Amino acid sequence: MIKRIHKAVFPVAGLGTRNLPATKSIPKEMLPIVDRPIIQYAVDEALNAGMDEMVFIVSPYKSSIKDYFDKSVELERLLQKKQKGKELSLIRSIIPEDTKCTYVVQEEALGLGHAVLCASEVIGAEPFSVILPDDLIKVKGKGCLAEMVNIYNRTDGNYISVENVPRENTSRYGIVSTSNNTGSPYRITDIVEKPEPEDAPSTLAVVGRYILKPEIFEYLERTKTGHGGEIQLTDAIKTLIKSQHVYAYEFEGMRFDCGSKLGLLEANVCYALEHDELSSQFGNFLKKHHLN
Ligand code: G1P
Repeated sequence: MIKRIHKAVFPVAGLGTRNLPATKSIPKEMLPIVDRPIIQYAVDEALNAGMDEMVFIVSPYKSSIKDYFDKSVELERLLQKKQKGKELSLIRSIIPEDTKCTYVVQEEALGLGHAVLCASEVIGAEPFSVILPDDLIKVKGKGCLAEMVNIYNRTDGNYISVENVPRENTSRYGIVSTSNNTGSPYRITDIVEKPEPEDAPSTLAVVGRYILKPEIFEYLERTKTGHGGEIQLTDAIKTLIKSQHVYAYEFEGMRFDCGSKLGLLEANVCYALEHDELSSQFGNFLKKHHLN
């Protein structure tokens, strides 16, 4: 029987160097897209995919992600006193009360593989999902992870979301080779972390959504330092492929790399143009100043 997935891991202990100085004192996942931090979009996607336990792999230096999801008694009291009902319900709806949040401290930024390994005790012997919040994925419907969970529920296996990227950009991503191209999901035959364009086996790039079976932890434990001097999830998956099915799921939609200044800007513009309160005014502003 296929085991239900209900836990999502969010590796959020990165240094956010591409968005400095904004990220000097706050995690990049707390930067806003319009009026909500990036991490909120990731958690909403997890909730839409049926996850009820969020596991945040956090840095020992920044507590704002935990502060964001924790109940703020003081702020709630203040808003109540000032009769700010709308704002009160806004902050109360950040995350449903029955959603479990667990925080695991990653003492050192040793790479994505190491971050995922930090979740092993909390995950146990269950399949689980991983969301890299700085890859903001916008699809029609319930979200990229929900689509992947649907496919997983029909066909057991490990799943990774992929996107076709220009060949000159392969050195920014994990790149997969697949055995067939008859339609997504494709069976992955190899995966390599950040190859130079001339060495890349394809242009199918891994983008921040994974469904993984618990055996990945055994491989992660044995994974040595790889690209960039870090323990790479990609390297553990490369070994996992030898014993388990790993599929690439090509989503239909848009992805914003919110770990970069440009991606963050693009996401802000796109979401502002769809925002209930802002879309028409913001659209008019762009038109008035010939910015569109
Ligand atoms: C990580 C993964 C990489 C993947 C990318 C997607 O890299 O190691 O395989 O393609 O996320 O965003 P990072 O961007 O953390 O360097």
